[in-house]
Amino acid sequence: MARKQRTPRWLEAARRRGPEAPAGPGADWLTRALGRAGVLPRAEAEQAIRDGRVEVDGRVEREPFAPVGEGTRVRVDGVERALTRHVRVLMFHKPAGPVVHGSDPEGVGTVFERLRAVLPPELRGFEWYAVGRLDRDTTGLLLFTNDERLVRHATAPDTHLPKRYVARVEGQPPEAALTRLREGLTLEDGPTRPAEALLRAPDVVALTLTEGRHHQVKRMLAAVGHPVLALHREAVGRVVLDVAEGAWRELTEAEVAEGLGFQPGAD
Ligand code: URA
Repeated sequence: MARKQRTPRWLEAARRRGPEAPAGPGADWLTRALGRAGVLPRAEAEQAIRDGRVEVDGRVEREPFAPVGEGTRVRVDGVERALTRHVRVLMFHKPAGPVVHGSDPEGVGTVFERLRAVLPPELRGFEWYAVGRLDRDTTGLLLFTNDERLVRHATAPDTHLPKRYVARVEGQPPEAALTRLREGLTLEDGPTRPAEALLRAPDVVALTLTEGRHHQVKRMLAAVGHPVLALHREAVGRVVLDVAEGAWRELTEAEVAEGLGFQPGAD
């Protein structure tokens, strides 16, 4: 006899509650709140909750999607933990090789693994979200944050946060090619916004984009007849990469506010 498939409890609960986070000051799902506060990254938080190691307001909570809010008291393994919502942002100098994906079917390694391996223990409890994507072979500035609102801000099509890339290309782009890059050209997914383009060397183009479409730099340079041989990102907003390859540092509040134009607000 076929066994009836049961919908997992967490899924039922999530469906009942809808896709949005719970409302109210500081409200969030328990798992996400733990990852944001640096108590446990989301996958570990979910496991700890299922294992009965997490108490909410004095009761063991086995529901990863349980709502929590300002004033909720949480204990993990018997130790009280604050669900702080402070925005943290790290710059990481991505080497060529790892993918900016959670899944890694080819087994080449992910930037999340690379970052975690160099972080001190007090920063390993956060769930770190990559702010946008870089191709596997692209090096340079990749930002990580514990706050998904910052990811949305930085990657939203209407934010127009400038991103500066340096590309070594085939051939030597003439002024006419740079003009096309500056004025905008039409790719298969539509016209590009005007960009800044200058030569740093006869075969090295510095290109600043205020949008972030898939493989955009490579597609733009290929479209003007100069395919990219190597690509590096130097800056996002006014935040300029200043750590060695494979290294990281935390951004200051001023860099987050002024360099990235992000104001967390008071939700
Ligand atoms: N544009 C690209 O083509 N690749 C990147 O990694 C980033 C921007």
